[in-house]
Amino acid sequence: MNIKLTAQLPKTHTQKILKKEAKDKDSSCLVVLVDNNKNILASDSLTEYQERIEQLMAVSHFSGKACETVADYALAGDKKTTKANPLQLLLVGVGAIDKLNHSALQKIAKTIYQSTQKRVASLTIALGDALQENEFSQLALNLLAATYRFDKYKSEQTTPVLTDIYLLADNSLQSALDFAQSVFVGQSLTRDVANEPGNICFPAYMAEQAQELGKKYSDILKVTVLGEEEMSALGMECFLAVSRGSVREGKLVIMEYQGKSKFTANHSASYRDNASSAAKAGLKAIADKLPLKANTKKGSNSDAPIVLVGKGVTFDSGGISIKPGAAMDEMKFDMGGSASVLGTIQALCEARLPINVVGALACAENMPSGEATRPGDIVKAMNGKSVEILNTDAEGRLVLADTLCYIQRYNPKAIIDVATLTGACVVALGHVRSAVFSNDEDVLFELESASAQSGDLIWHMPLDDEYQSLLDSPIADMQNIGGKGAGAVTAACFLSRFVEEGQAWAHLDIAGTAWNSGKEKAATGRPVPLFMQYLKNSVDMA
Ligand code: BES
Ligand code: MN
Ligand code: ZN
Repeated sequence: MNIKLTAQLPKTHTQKILKKEAKDKDSSCLVVLVDNNKNILASDSLTEYQERIEQLMAVSHFSGKACETVADYALAGDKKTTKANPLQLLLVGVGAIDKLNHSALQKIAKTIYQSTQKRVASLTIALGDALQENEFSQLALNLLAATYRFDKYKSEQTTPVLTDIYLLADNSLQSALDFAQSVFVGQSLTRDVANEPGNICFPAYMAEQAQELGKKYSDILKVTVLGEEEMSALGMECFLAVSRGSVREGKLVIMEYQGKSKFTANHSASYRDNASSAAKAGLKAIADKLPLKANTKKGSNSDAPIVLVGKGVTFDSGGISIKPGAAMDEMKFDMGGSASVLGTIQALCEARLPINVVGALACAENMPSGEATRPGDIVKAMNGKSVEILNTDAEGRLVLADTLCYIQRYNPKAIIDVATLTGACVVALGHVRSAVFSNDEDVLFELESASAQSGDLIWHMPLDDEYQSLLDSPIADMQNIGGKGAGAVTAACFLSRFVEEGQAWAHLDIAGTAWNSGKEKAATGRPVPLFMQYLKNSVDMA
């Protein structure tokens, strides 16, 4: 889909628009937005059509409520032989203009796309200065997102007639439109990989997707993949406890986006103490490609990266604590967190934001087998803490725990992990808002601001110390599940134990927002818009 700003109505829309018989391939439609007081948005640029618009509103009793539509076709009387009755003018209600929030903009964008995609080749949407920049960006992204389809497994694909969208609005919005297009590219990748079934998308597939990006954007992106051998040398027993049950090897994918500078990493530091010395010696070559912890203070360096960590469980059967059968297929989306990190990195490469960001994809498949972890098994994380695994279905926090330990060698400015972590989060917040937990007021504030600006909504949840004791184990440093209540909170508490003192960190639980169920079953691409807004704002602040 081409989407462009235009300062004027295109030629095809001059005087004759409402009379001319359009041919299918060059047919074009003018979209006029009307509020619930029947005010025509951008009316200044539409004076020549005002009469027709008002006539149409009158005969159809158009009220302008959100997503109401009235289409005006070339009338039989306009030209006797009009066979196709091409759609030429579409009125779309936007409701109360001061209540134009993210969900209204999303529905309006969907309505515009769905009412026109099969009928006309191009659209001009008259916006004028009716929208603020954030609203404009959201509308543009939502229009693009509405064009997304995932039909590669259908024998027949449908190609929409619509190929061009023109937004009649001020030139000053060009950078907002460019940014929306970058976000769309990344968000589409997120949706593509998350929509892939588990027999196609397994850890190595995720690694390949990342490596493809590394090739495509080789000047600013470096990708490193750690396999189980490397992870074993690093002492990542929690991660390996999850990947062990599957024949598909677990992968930890590190994507270094260097939009500001090349990172400095201190290679003289040594491995953690509890990795065996044999492994240390044997894996010297591997060690050389990994950055090791620098001696500087956390995030003190202005080139310090923001690190995004994604849960990448490519299929979550539950393992030995196997899940019930109903809707288990949806656990192919359990890599939605790492898919969103992957997509965000691509969006960054497209937008070329001048910042440093590291993306880490913690990819494993959670399966039952003779080698799988048993409930009751005790393993050590990379930071030396022991974990009693009481439920193998609480696997996301295990792969994340070791990944969090690992990425702190970048001395991040901030760490944000993102995961389809708990069913309890869906109970708490449903499918509207993702949950955010944080140990840092600034990071929390920035995420909440980005949420409001992008319309990719989050809700702040607690991390009080009082919840931590629910993870006490009689035999190890902690157990991997809490009690009956506060499941999303205890999962976040578990993760917090792998973040070093003083390290700014936030955790997003996207269990309810990463995909839609039922007839609409598909990945949403969230929270790529949130991440991109947050990262863009971080540039403006620096
Ligand atoms: N991937 C699931 C969480 C999930 C479940 C997301 C349903 C979306 C929909 C996660 O690995 C999991 O199984 N969590 C358990 C944790 C429990 C065993 C403490 C859960 O939420 O039931
Ligand atoms: Mn699980
Ligand atoms: Zn899971």
